[in-house]
Amino acid sequence: MRLDTAQLLKRFFFCERSLLVSEAAWIPAIAPLEIKTGLARFIWQSAETADALRNRVFELRFPSRLLEEQGADHALIELFGAVKDSPSAPAFFLSVGKVLLPALRDSYREYLEASDAIADGPTHRFLSLALSEKEEQINSFEQWTESALGLNPELREGALTWAQAVAGRLTQVGGVGVGPSPAAETAGPLPGSKTYVVPDRPARDPRFWPCRFYWPDVVDPNYPYGEGLQLQLRSAISHVNEVWAVEAGGVMLNAFADVLPWEWIHNAARWTYDESRHCRMGYERLMAWGLGPAEIPLGTYIYDSASGQDPIYRLGMLYFFETKNIKHKPARAQLFHAYGDATSEHDMDFDWADETMHAGYGKHWLRELLAVRGEDPAAYDQVRERCERLVREYVATATAQEVADIKRVAAALLAKAARRTNVGAGVPPVRPSAARH
Ligand SMILES: [Fe+2]
Ligand SMILES: [Fe+2]
Repeated sequence: MRLDTAQLLKRFFFCERSLLVSEAAWIPAIAPLEIKTGLARFIWQSAETADALRNRVFELRFPSRLLEEQGADHALIELFGAVKDSPSAPAFFLSVGKVLLPALRDSYREYLEASDAIADGPTHRFLSLALSEKEEQINSFEQWTESALGLNPELREGALTWAQAVAGRLTQVGGVGVGPSPAAETAGPLPGSKTYVVPDRPARDPRFWPCRFYWPDVVDPNYPYGEGLQLQLRSAISHVNEVWAVEAGGVMLNAFADVLPWEWIHNAARWTYDESRHCRMGYERLMAWGLGPAEIPLGTYIYDSASGQDPIYRLGMLYFFETKNIKHKPARAQLFHAYGDATSEHDMDFDWADETMHAGYGKHWLRELLAVRGEDPAAYDQVRERCERLVREYVATATAQEVADIKRVAAALLAKAARRTNVGAGVPPVRPSAARH
């Protein structure tokens, strides 16, 4: 029936919403690049599903204020948010991958089997896609659990206990399912939970060369951005280092999830996912040149610059860097074209399209956030200016050793890239890799 359908879709919406907020919060705390970017993609998938669910509930139109409250599903939805307080990364992976995602997968499947594909056709289309995405997400979470436990076997027992507690609570609150809501009471924090805090320093993939400042021009204004091979390499290094933007996206999505309307989460999820694609562009580009992660500097300075500050500066940092760099991008895409480097050109061109959209998000949501706080929305530019200052002050803490080290690493990377491409400093004949996924 139409009303039951709306109630169920509303339940799914709130579950996806809570799950993606929990996933976003974990991005900076998880080291492997593949998992950070994978999580960014999954929060975007969840946000798209949640948005379709939400629109569908509006279409069903009754009761009209349905989406303003979680209602009888409150305890269930709280559990999807409670995994944010998982005691460790493997515990988080296990509880999401073995308990929450399978519960959603099974519920979507049941819903699709039990509902009318004609009367409820619009739901069938997006929920079928959501079901296939859940299967992919479950596979990834299982791999992530095993790789995380492989590195830290001492966490296995705690992770299992935590996942059992989450599974027990899920049963207690009636599961997700397609039945009526049991209106369970909320039962307080799960045993073993550890209150989530935003990490001061981001966890970083140990395969890369760790640093704060990832290229000499960050700390030395006289170091040229370069042209030819140097520009191609610099651009790919910038892209892989957009890992900071993935992390900032996750932190800010979570920080303002309950302060700003749904559209914030929807936009921030897309934003975070886009930054993860830019990061992967850089990674794939560098790998295609035959460079290895251990020689690639992965820095933290932009994330660090906003640590300990009001989370509005995470949003501000994204806005600052989007608007600072965007003007150079079309010209660089043209240069890459002139070099015959179609991959770098393609990456920069797509990046530019995303960043144009992001600059719009940044301005809009800074204004909205200031308005919600009772401050002047026009002060968004002051937030940007303060971000610029925070970065400048942080960069000033670079030690002579750090400057010398990054110059050495950059020189070695340039020399190797020049050998790989078999040309001098001029125009390298780098061809796009045959396949890109
Ligand atoms: Fe980006
Ligand atoms: Fe961006």
